[in-house]
Amino acid sequence: AQYEHYGRVGDIKEDFDIISYEDSKGELYSSFKHASHAMLFARNDTVLWDLYKSRAAIMMQMRFDGLIGFPGGLVDPGENPLDGVNRELEEEIGLDLCKHKLQDSDQVVSFVNKRKNLVLHFYGKEVTVNDFSEIEMKTLSAPDYGNETLGMIRPPLYTMGDGYRGLPAFLSNSYAGNSRQELLIGLQHFKILEQDEIEKAVDSWKTFMK
Ligand code: GTP
Ligand code: MN
Ligand code: MN
Ligand code: MN
Ligand code: MN
Ligand code: MN
Repeated sequence: AQYEHYGRVGDIKEDFDIISYEDSKGELYSSFKHASHAMLFARNDTVLWDLYKSRAAIMMQMRFDGLIGFPGGLVDPGENPLDGVNRELEEEIGLDLCKHKLQDSDQVVSFVNKRKNLVLHFYGKEVTVNDFSEIEMKTLSAPDYGNETLGMIRPPLYTMGDGYRGLPAFLSNSYAGNSRQELLIGLQHFKILEQDEIEKAVDSWKTFMK
């Protein structure tokens, strides 16, 4: 119930239910596959052509399968969801865990798909503009760069004059797991965009998709 407000954002994929972090780590889901992904971001005041406010740099990626997603991956045997996300961030983006290790308090939302026996955990962490640039540069020398991960992407968060280009066009890409919903949840959770800005972008994306 504490996450009820997230339901208003986008269309949480119908076969994924939101569950609490505590429940997600309980016995009920111990035989499920778990995967953990994370949104690293930095608020900034960059403006494009004196017109479009960047608001924040958010790190997403082009994956090996042609889908857009967040860095992260499957939780390995013996790991908890937090261990998993930290290891995957080291592999996929070369994150310096001495500086930027995620904590349990960075968990934003977790989902379960009971049909697929799958639990998906989503974390988010704000860093400074300088740290973001440094992290982004290092992704090019990450162990998995060039095979599993094919390049980092910063989603545009504004909507352009035609009402489609910008965030609505970005939302019309194909996404891994429920990472499109996670992006919208992250925008809301961290108050990067106002609620009505998010809803307008979602409406615009859906309108232009028809
Ligand atoms: P390998 O290291 O090659 O095994 O891959 P991985 O461990 O990095 O796994 P991957 O990142 O592909 O994620 C595993 C599962 O999570 C798949 O079912 C994906 O569909 C799903 N997935 C991938 N990216 C995201 C994401 O950003 N968010 C969510 N919620 N799920 C994702
Ligand atoms: Mn991986
Ligand atoms: Mn991955
Ligand atoms: Mn993996
Ligand atoms: Mn895999
Ligand atoms: Mn791997």
